[in-house]
Amino acid sequence: MIDLHTHILPKMDDGASSSTLSLDMLRMEASQRVDTVVLTPHFYREEEEPEAFLQRRASSFLRLQERIDELPKEERGQLPTLLLGAEVAWTPNMDEWEALPQLCMGKSSLLLLELPFYPWDKGMFHQLYDLIGKTGVTPVIAHLERYMRGQRWSGIQEILALGVPIQLSSGAFLTMGGRRLVRQLLHAGMGFLLASDCHNATTRPPNMGEAIAVIRKKFSKEVAGDLQRQMSVVKRQLV
Ligand SMILES: [Fe+2]
Repeated sequence: MIDLHTHILPKMDDGASSSTLSLDMLRMEASQRVDTVVLTPHFYREEEEPEAFLQRRASSFLRLQERIDELPKEERGQLPTLLLGAEVAWTPNMDEWEALPQLCMGKSSLLLLELPFYPWDKGMFHQLYDLIGKTGVTPVIAHLERYMRGQRWSGIQEILALGVPIQLSSGAFLTMGGRRLVRQLLHAGMGFLLASDCHNATTRPPNMGEAIAVIRKKFSKEVAGDLQRQMSVVKRQLV
């Protein structure tokens, strides 16, 4: 199984605050049968140039890799394979960024995209169409369930109509309120990818295993089967 949205890279953002915590989170992922983890620290273009972010990401990855290399061979072998990516906050004119391909996940042209939390307007949608139409990059809409309370349903439907992959957070499946939102999206005909969006080992932990168990128990076989298919398709694109 793949976890394609995580904040495990040390000291990059509001995720793992040390490489020791990063290792703990990777062990948690492995214990839930996650064999591939995409490291997707937040990228805010308003705060940082893409090149500076990519450099910081490379150093953080190196630091984590050094810690992993110090582990006994057997333990090292049990940890998930790591791929690089970013959770890119939507920014006007992002279709013009040269660094866009380097921000995509693994070897793919899939870009984990965080949409604004303020009300979406026509301009955002037009620029989203430009991103999809002009760049060859396919956005994966991060944690769609998190926008649902702050946006009009017509906006959510317009996102679904884009036909791009939609990521839901595993945490959404673990509460009744979250499951209600998910059912509303499924009812609208949406397929989805699951990811933990983990930030630490306690309050926002890696919890893919728990969510999968809930999906198998509380959702239909079709939903579980469809998720498994979508996740394997994406994994093949990334690795
Ligand atoms: Fe995130």
